[in-house]
Parts: sequence; structure tokens; C-alpha cells
Amino acid sequence: MYRTKTCGELRLSDAGSQVTIAGWVQRTRKMGGMTFVDVRDRYGITQVVFNNETDAALCEAANHLGREYVVQISGTVAERSNKNPNIPTGDIEIIAEKLNVLNASEVPPFTIEDDTDGGDDLRMKYRYLDLRRNNVRKNLELRHKMTMEVRRYLDSKGFLEIETPMLVGSTPEGARDFVVPSRMNPGQFYALPQSPQTLKQLLMVSGMDRYFQIVKCFRDEDLRADRQPEFTQIDCEMSFVEQDDIINLFEGMAKHLFKELRGVELTEPFIRMPWADAMKYYGSDKPDLRFGMKFVELMDIMKGHGFGVFDNAAYIGGICAPGAATYTRKQLDQLTEYVKRPQIGAKGMVYARVEADGTVKSSVDKFYSQEVLQQMKQAFNANPGDLILILSGDDAMKTRKQLCELRLEMGRQLGLRDKNKFACLWVVDFPMFEWSEEEQRLMAMHHPFTHPKDEDIPLLDTNPEAVRADAYDMVINGVEVGGGSIRIHDSALQAKMFEILGFTPERAQEQFGFLMNAFKFGAPPHGGLAYGLDRWVSLFAGLDSIRDCIAFPKNNSGRDVMLDAPAALDDKQLDELALKIDITEK
Ligand code: AMO
Repeated sequence: MYRTKTCGELRLSDAGSQVTIAGWVQRTRKMGGMTFVDVRDRYGITQVVFNNETDAALCEAANHLGREYVVQISGTVAERSNKNPNIPTGDIEIIAEKLNVLNASEVPPFTIEDDTDGGDDLRMKYRYLDLRRNNVRKNLELRHKMTMEVRRYLDSKGFLEIETPMLVGSTPEGARDFVVPSRMNPGQFYALPQSPQTLKQLLMVSGMDRYFQIVKCFRDEDLRADRQPEFTQIDCEMSFVEQDDIINLFEGMAKHLFKELRGVELTEPFIRMPWADAMKYYGSDKPDLRFGMKFVELMDIMKGHGFGVFDNAAYIGGICAPGAATYTRKQLDQLTEYVKRPQIGAKGMVYARVEADGTVKSSVDKFYSQEVLQQMKQAFNANPGDLILILSGDDAMKTRKQLCELRLEMGRQLGLRDKNKFACLWVVDFPMFEWSEEEQRLMAMHHPFTHPKDEDIPLLDTNPEAVRADAYDMVINGVEVGGGSIRIHDSALQAKMFEILGFTPERAQEQFGFLMNAFKFGAPPHGGLAYGLDRWVSLFAGLDSIRDCIAFPKNNSGRDVMLDAPAALDDKQLDELALKIDITEK
């Protein structure tokens, strides 16, 4: 037996017992005739003492242990004279009687402690060492607990866990596919699934009724803190349901997860906010509702007073930051610079302070009378001490998005985006389509299998951009943690959808014939949703990036620096796959 106890379980009640532990040497300290060795495993850290007086040879061996050596140690548990209240095993130590070095270790490239000296790249290159650190390991433990709870909840609701293939055909869902060449079918490619969307719909046609899968999805898109090229969905589909059935069931799951994983009881129903309101009041389809600062439109009040910037604007709107009138000129200039950054793209920012006596002092005082400024103050319901920040622009949607960034930044600066506070909502009534400048055609906002709202179906022919979808996203603290929709289950409506999206009937048949044909054989009404597992775990763990809850993530360029992937293939492999590489400078 390698061990009788782990490094996390010994307590004062074990004093006097004979034990064997195994693990990694965290650190050794020599103090007089004693050598202290901290031994670590997944479960904790245990202090071991080697006494030079009782066994000089054993103590000498301990003095030669290096960091991260793998050791097996036997001895007697004793009460510590110098207790460490910071760790659960801090009341005891093991008086060593036997030491067995199971494996030596080179000096690790960074210290394996909570606060490490290793930079991002180094830790990613040696991710297996990074994973020995407490905080990273804890995220994986949380992830495990989350998937266990998900399975428990969905099983209790009658869902079947069914696997779908990883080698599939290409189905466009807004991102590019990762493709895999087929040796047996030269010149042909599989695609890795962006999600199992069409397959789970086919499972509904098969009568599976309630499906789920904790599944890897692959999308070749630009990476951000909340995006990885391969990520995990909790993917679900249900038959004979309406939007409310799905929302209720998955809101129940969200509440279950909050309770089990964070000990947070969410008793109120989640807000359901129409997409149009989310855009109007927060400039985003994923508003962070941990704080207010709802947008106020100022076109009526601020236009037509001779201030050219506003007079020519298609949108003027602002936010009121409570208590921020103390912002200095320097801070306001920095905020202006912030919104003018190319990623945000505002032209400038107007500000107005509400003074202690209720008067308003603005950066555009020469164009506005105090009377107009007071009207503006009332529109915000602003109080003395508040700061009003205003943006304008010639494109209402773009300006709202800029104002959204400003709102989030102010929320951050004022400490209103507390990681231990959770604001959950559903964004509903998404538009069915959005215009793509790049593609010069309408694209499905969710995906092409989404059902339009029944009452909007007549608009498909006359005004498709006004059609709303039976689609919904769950948003927590400004993060889209899941999304889904009621699906089309009628092959004629599905064909029409492809037509509006610019598919010729032939191309629609070629790419999605399997689905439209299946719909001809008794497809039940159905709908579903997918939660982003990585995003949920990072939310619960309070992480800034989903990378930290993924065992082996990719870096921002989509590389696995540990495996050095992606990499070139050798000529033999290319030959087998009938591939020729031609990299021409773009
Ligand atoms: P959608 O594309 O909205 O819907 O994805 C569902 C959820 O998956 C998460 N997510 C991601 N997480 C990490 N990295 C990414 N690159 C990434 N992309 C998406 C988000 C998102 O809400 N088939 C539909 C679901 C359905 O309609 O049932 C789909 O994939 O949390």
C-alpha cells in the first residue's frame, strides 16, 4: 500500500497513530537539529518532522529532498507545539520513521504555491505543474461538482445523456469550422461540431423526448476572456414544449446550481427582458444588472440648442453615476480617452456634475441654459453629488454600444461589479435576423433552426428584419451563460428560412437536406438550450477568464503551448490525406 492517509485528512484525534502518506515535497526547512518537510497532495499539506538526534541518517536524507520530489513517508502522528490555524492539518505533524523517495524532480520552472512567480506563458507551457497549485486545482474540483449536479438535476427531470459524433459535416452557426481531412475519402473533410444543434433535433425526431450532453464544441473564432476555440456546453433539447417550459426548467437548474455550488438561494423569478429593452436601456444583449445606471435618451432635451455635435446626432443618451460628481478633471479626461479608444470608438464625451445646491455644471455650459440642464437632471432623476455622462453619435446602435462600455467601466470604477453578487436574467424576443455588412445578407441571430414568433410569421415575406424569434439567452453579471430557442419542426418553414438567409434550394438541400427530410417523418414540436459550462464555472469561481477552469486551455492565439499545437504535418501524412500545403502571403 502506497499510503494509509492522504495529506489532507489527519487531525488531532489521529495523534499517536501510525500512518503512511505519499505526495510531493512543497518545501523543506532546517531548524537546529530538526528538518521540517511539507508534503502536498490533492487533498492538502501535512508537515513531517525529521529529528537528527533520533535518526541522523534519516534526517540527512530529508535534507537532500528537493522541491517537487515524490516521497512516501511513514511515521507517528503527534500534536504540534506550533500550530498552524490556516490549514486543516495544522494541529498535527508526522514524526518521520521511514522515507522513501519515489521519484526525484528537477527544480520546477516556477514556485508551485498560491502566489507563484511564474508568468502566464511559463505556467501554460508547464500546465501539469500549474495544476498542482491549489487555486487552479480548486477550479477543476468546482467544475467536477458542477457537472455532477447538472447530471443529478437533469436525470431527476427525465433527461437522457446521449453522445453525438465529433466528426460531422459543416453546419454554419456564425463561426468558422475546424475541419478534419478524411484519409478514406480523399479531398473530403469532416467538421468538428460548433454545437450538436442539428443532431439533438434529430434525437427529438427519434422520440428521445429529453436529451442532454456535456459536450465539447469547436469554433474557429477570435478569442476573448470568455471564449476558447474548444469549450464545453451543457446541451439540452426537449419535445412537446413551449418557451416557458424550457425557461422554467432551466431557471430551476440555475437555482439548483447556485444553491449547491455557491450556497446562494435565489428565490425570485429571473427578470425576463425583451431584447429591444436590453439594447435601449443597456446597449447590450447581455446587460450587467448588478448595478443601475440605465440609459436615458436625451434627444428631446439636448437637440436644437446650437451645440453642433448634438444637433447632428442620431442618438444622444447618457448615464447617471451616483455620487461620482467628485471625479476630477483628470479622471474625466481619462474616461473620455477610454471611450475614444479604437475598440470603443466614441468621438467624445460630455459630462455634467450635479452640485450640492442642485445646480448642474456641465462641459457644454455655453450651449445650454441652467433651465435645460435642470430638465436633463430630472430626466435622470439625478441628485446632488451625481455625475451625468453623455455620448452621442450618428448611429444609434453603435452609440448605445459605446455607452454600454462606458457604463460597465463606471460600474467597475465605482466598485459596483462585485463578484460575490449575482444578477440573473433572461433576455427574450431576440430578432430573428441581423444584417451582416461582411456577408451583405441577413444572418440568423441565433441560428437558422430557430422558430419565428407565430404572430411575426407573416412578416417573413414583407419585413423580415422586424421578425422576432422564440429565442432566449440567460445572462448573469453581464455574461451570456446560455442560450436557446424553440425550433422549426416543419420542413417547408425551414426551407423558407434558408431562402431568406440567401441559400439556393440546392445548397439548402445539400447542407441541410438530412434535417428537412427528417422533418417530413413526424417531427415533434421541440426546443432547447445550451449552457456554457466554462462560463458558469468561472462565474462561480470568480475568475476573470474561462481559461482558468479548463485543465489544458489554448492561449490567445489559439495555441496549446504545452503540446505545441497546431503544428505542421510531415510529408507522409500529407500524402496519405492527399493534401498539398500552399502558404501564400496574404
Ligand atoms: P450558443 O452559440 O449561444 O448556442 O452557445 C451556447 C452557450 O455556449 C457558450 N459559448 C462559449 N463558451 C466558451 N467559448 C466559446 N467560444 C463559446 N461560444 C459559446 C455560451 C453560450 O451561451 N446550439 C445552440 C444552443 C441551442 O440553441 O440550444 C448554441 O450553440 O455560454
